[in-house]
Amino acid sequence: MIDIAFVKPALPRHGALVLPVAEAAEGMPQGMTGLALAIDLATGGAVQRALAAAGFKGRKGQSCTLWAPSLTEGGPGPSRIVAIGLGKEASAEAAEAAGGALFALVQAEREVVVAAEALAPGVAAALAMGLLLRSYRFDRYRTTEKEEDKPKLERFAVATDAAAAAKAAWAPLRAVADGVFISRDLVSEPPNVLTPAEMADRCKALESLGLLIEVMGPKELKKLGFGALLGVAQGSAQEPRMVVMQWNGASKGKKAGAKPVAFIGKGVTFDTGGISIKPAGGMEDMKWDMAGAGTVVGLMAALAGRKAKVDAVGLVGLVENMPGSNAQRPGDVVTTASGQTVEVINTDAEGRLVLADVLHYCQDRFAPRFMVDLATLTGAIIVALGHEHAGLFSNDDELATRVMAAGKSVGEACWRMPLGEAYDKQIKSDIADMKNVGGRPGGSITAAQFIQRFVDTKSGPMPWVHLDIAGVAWSTKDLPTVPKGATAFGVRLLDRLVAEHYEG
Ligand code: BES
Ligand code: MN
Ligand code: ZN
Repeated sequence: MIDIAFVKPALPRHGALVLPVAEAAEGMPQGMTGLALAIDLATGGAVQRALAAAGFKGRKGQSCTLWAPSLTEGGPGPSRIVAIGLGKEASAEAAEAAGGALFALVQAEREVVVAAEALAPGVAAALAMGLLLRSYRFDRYRTTEKEEDKPKLERFAVATDAAAAAKAAWAPLRAVADGVFISRDLVSEPPNVLTPAEMADRCKALESLGLLIEVMGPKELKKLGFGALLGVAQGSAQEPRMVVMQWNGASKGKKAGAKPVAFIGKGVTFDTGGISIKPAGGMEDMKWDMAGAGTVVGLMAALAGRKAKVDAVGLVGLVENMPGSNAQRPGDVVTTASGQTVEVINTDAEGRLVLADVLHYCQDRFAPRFMVDLATLTGAIIVALGHEHAGLFSNDDELATRVMAAGKSVGEACWRMPLGEAYDKQIKSDIADMKNVGGRPGGSITAAQFIQRFVDTKSGPMPWVHLDIAGVAWSTKDLPTVPKGATAFGVRLLDRLVAEHYEG
């Protein structure tokens, strides 16, 4: 991983020197100061001339590279100078996106120094965050890649006179980036490696961060009456797991803790569809059907890593959905932990069965302040929203608004979808309390209706948000702070939600 450092400003003689530039009102770059001015003077004004010649104004998304400048006092300068635009506001968001785009420009250098003297400490830290997030790579299984094809960047030095303040702004971001990487690693792992048991082991390892981790296997789950989750698991040779993660950052040392906030993730480590088997084309994508759980794990690591002043619980239901000889059949009726029965019409609608039991358990044990569940639940949400928004379903306007706002500020957008009785009717069963599919119309909504039946509001309100992340958990193209592949969608969003509303 790239070493991010905060250093005193000094002109580098190798690697890249980065000049973040805000756009001035007249559309020209703002006057140069600090290292930027120093390098301009040392190159005999070449920097300003090059920027003018390239039409560089400091606009968002703009960049300009000067190759191999020589310094007037003789020696060679850095191997390149890269100016990047931050737009007029030079906001943290703009800096983060610029940092992400910057990675692609400088990854061939070993060392990069960014002249951040004119940036507020939070903006300088955001620039580093963008770069770090974009640098993620899952290369564990590449054994023959040539050295010259690998990214070289080892050290990213942020040159600032306010190093202490920038470092303080960086520490929590760093913890969140670690959480994002944990999530991306889990989602990227192949399904023969990342079985439910293996994923539970990796959760257990996060105890080192101060998280309390419990792992439950088939015996315990049977005892808890998890008929729906176990029904999904029974077609696979891989045993299911449920992992309960607790972070007590608010009540630590105190006697009575406040109600925790709760996050629940769908963790289907591979979804063949079961007996209602999926077509072969693209089935390999179903290795990331545990992305909801991956997000919850990454989030809990982030909260613990930055020592968030909150009590939070994260629960993940881990199963493999396979069509083995003991697999559940279409037509089976299962009894969930809540006591409600489900007629399984389609074994490929398995995620909701897993969530049903875990959601019930979560409320029963923790009586949380609210619950947010995340699941790669339906192909229909991709039809509705493409890859630009997660589908958001909620029984609580305030929580829904907060989640949407948090998503907007970290670039993880959600779009609210409706719930309602008419949709709920679609999952009525002739022989059980409900069936697990509601037909083609509104497929993502009926899935959410199903989950809502396990949100218990009989003894008081239970604010709940369901995020259908099937369209956003994986990216097929490079985005500013998300390289192609597992996105970890939701880690940053929910960390922001907690930071803005539920700490202190
Ligand atoms: N894991 C899938 C949903 C999915 C599909 C995620 C494509 C990502 C990409 C889920 O378990 C599933 O199979 N859903 C079915 C539900 C249907 C049987 C009602 C679907 O969407 O087809
Ligand atoms: Mn499925
Ligand atoms: Zn699935």
